Amino acid sequence: MIFSTPFSMPLARKVARAAQTAVGRAEFRNFADGERYVRISSNVRGRSVAALGSTPPPAENWIDLLFLIRALKENGARRVTAVLPYLGYARQDHVERRGEFVALRLAADLIAAAGADRVILVDPHPSGASRFFRLPATAATALPLLCAALPSAREALVVAPDRGAAARAREAAGLLGARQVVIFRKFRPRPNEVRLLPSAAIPGAKSAVIIDDMIDTGGTVIAAVKRLRAAGIRDIKVASTHPVLSRNAIRRIRAAGANQIVVADTIGLRAGRLPKNVRVVTVGALIAKFL
Ligand code: R5P
Repeated sequence: MIFSTPFSMPLARKVARAAQTAVGRAEFRNFADGERYVRISSNVRGRSVAALGSTPPPAENWIDLLFLIRALKENGARRVTAVLPYLGYARQDHVERRGEFVALRLAADLIAAAGADRVILVDPHPSGASRFFRLPATAATALPLLCAALPSAREALVVAPDRGAAARAREAAGLLGARQVVIFRKFRPRPNEVRLLPSAAIPGAKSAVIIDDMIDTGGTVIAAVKRLRAAGIRDIKVASTHPVLSRNAIRRIRAAGANQIVVADTIGLRAGRLPKNVRVVTVGALIAKFL
């Protein structure tokens, strides 16, 4: 049986369908002051269940998932698998400047403290996020699904917009049957601002596919699109698992010159928010395989 936070319910239904199991009943409410209340109304005693919830801001998505895990455990679930299709609050994953702390470690500890027995992530940032958990944790990847949605990219240049995306870009090139991979180098003068360092000559190509784990403000992808256009490439596609999409990212990425964007449904997208050349692939069946 699969339980979900309200935020991730559309994806939980797809996972349940693919896993041929039921969606369990859990009530989520607010107290008058906004505090969360969670109650399990399906019988979970002695059962192995999944608690699914992506955790982008607001932080209530984290509260909902933690409360759900603990509520399942305290109501007698034998085993709770925490499924985080998008692991939010994971970008502070190392200490760079004095005074910082590793928020990802706290997030991982909270999942364990809530009572989960096992964790499933999808394309977490950082890719080694599983190691932060004191529980068995597995990272699935949506990359094959994203690549399958990009027909005939064999001749395309596969582009990592920063070094963090290099391994994914190489893997994508293998999946697409593409031969050329380019890795850009990025730096951030300030949080949420992006500059690309000068790169070696970009090999001649008619098309390019930019691969990244998430699109937040779109700054990273836009910088890469601009660099590719300056090199004369006009057919530019973007494939990224998590559509965080702040600051009108999709509109700005298209305006920069990308003509197709493929993302996964790890974070709910508001209806009517997406233009035609944005495709959303589902990770429902992928997650079901790991349950
Ligand atoms: C960073 O290392 C990530 O892989 C993404 O490149 C980044 O978070 C995307 O953020 P934005 O869309 O705001 O540039």
